[in-house]
Amino acid sequence: MLQNINIVIAGLGTVGSSTIKLIETNKKIFLSKLGLKINIVGIFAKNKSKKRNFNKNKYAWFDNPLKMIKQNNVDTVVELIGGEKGIAKDICFQAIKNKKNLVTANKALIAHQGYNLARLAEENGVSIGFEASVAGGIPIISTLKKSFKGIKINKITGILNGTSNFILTNMYEKKNEFSKSLDEAKRLGYAEQNSNDDLNGLDTLHKILILSTIAFNKKINLKDINYSGINYLTKADIFFADKLGFRIKLLGIGSIDKKKIRINVAPYLISKKKELSNVNHNLNSVIIEANKNNKTILIGEGAGGDPTSMSVLADITNLSFENYKNFMYGVSCKDLKKTNISNDSLGESLFFLRAKVYDKPGAIAAITTILKNFKISIKSLFQEQSNKKLFNVVILTHKCKKKIMDTATVKLNNCSYIKEKAIIMQVLHV
Ligand SMILES: NC(=O)c1ccc[n+]([C@@H]2O[C@H](COP(=O)([O-])OP(=O)(O)OC[C@H]3O[C@@H](n4cnc5c(N)ncnc54)[C@H](OP(=O)(O)O)[C@@H]3O)[C@@H](O)[C@H]2O)c1
Repeated sequence: MLQNINIVIAGLGTVGSSTIKLIETNKKIFLSKLGLKINIVGIFAKNKSKKRNFNKNKYAWFDNPLKMIKQNNVDTVVELIGGEKGIAKDICFQAIKNKKNLVTANKALIAHQGYNLARLAEENGVSIGFEASVAGGIPIISTLKKSFKGIKINKITGILNGTSNFILTNMYEKKNEFSKSLDEAKRLGYAEQNSNDDLNGLDTLHKILILSTIAFNKKINLKDINYSGINYLTKADIFFADKLGFRIKLLGIGSIDKKKIRINVAPYLISKKKELSNVNHNLNSVIIEANKNNKTILIGEGAGGDPTSMSVLADITNLSFENYKNFMYGVSCKDLKKTNISNDSLGESLFFLRAKVYDKPGAIAAITTILKNFKISIKSLFQEQSNKKLFNVVILTHKCKKKIMDTATVKLNNCSYIKEKAIIMQVLHV
């Protein structure tokens, strides 16, 4: 039997216009494979006269998004504007209050308001699809919610930001400084003009928080988590990491151990023998460690209109067939218990340390003494002249606790031989 579904789309940019084009292209597939007809009964964006790469005259334009949502025949509202506040937030909340299913790619909104949206959706008996909010075209949310529903997840590790991954790959391959690689990313469309949240780790934090909420069924407060990105790394860090046998990747890591949740967002060194070290350019990847530490690895395009619109479409079609209660996080939000979050990491790891040091007698001894005072032993050390007055000291430590390394770093940064804050990165041990 043919099923008709009526949707409205707010936001007609990169993802919105690709979604419309995909719906137009796949019309026959919906009919033959799903018995489904998707009707777009309203579109909305900021600028009505803007040129679009689909025929906008085929669809009813609304100047008022709330009027568009409130039409009686609308089943699903698709929000593709973005941002944790403002019009996108209003559209999402109004959609649910008007008892419409919601599909969104808005990770910032889900990270900040996900719990409130989930509660409202349960009260109103509607569902929320947010597959496109994490890792673009990789079906990670449905994998966690459906395939791992009955399995205990221990840890999730992800390369979740395509812009950062492109820049790190470019710095490695082309031996560029950060700013040159950023320019290249902008030129090729892998970075927006303002890509601060991609580069400072906030975007990765939003995404690992969303995945961890589903994986561990806990209510996690964004404000409890420290994070860092790649915007302070230099070509020297990439070079020395390579020399030591590692690649640098910005990771989001969520883990649970004895009910304690740890969330970390930072650049990590990964051995060149490990899978994640070879996930390059704008690709994303997620490793799910579950059961008795069985590993599942997903890799795919993490951003861009085409891959992201596949996830938007998957949500639209899945929601139209769901006749059971589809809780946003896999369980009722009443069962998401508040929990304390730690920024510490489990166990011990190796650390990479690079300090720019004044070329004076006693400089290296000062650094190694600080490490010795914290019982941090050195696995390898080398130095390289960066100019006549300064040189890089690079140390790979033996295993130690992150907490101890953090305290030692404070001491190192107060050391008069060191010119600027030392770069410290953890080595991933999966
Ligand atoms: N791009 C990606 O690769 C990607 C991947 C995953 C998730 N996402 C998420 O998808 C969402 C959309 O991203 P995008 O890249 O498609 O963004 P975009 O290209 O900047 O498009 C944003 C759209 O929202 C509209 N808009 C912006 N401010 C508005 C306002 N105040 N009132 C009405 N309309 C407004 C714009 O209207 P005009 O066209 O008229 O200017 C545009 O159509 C975001 O939540 C983003 O985080 C994007």
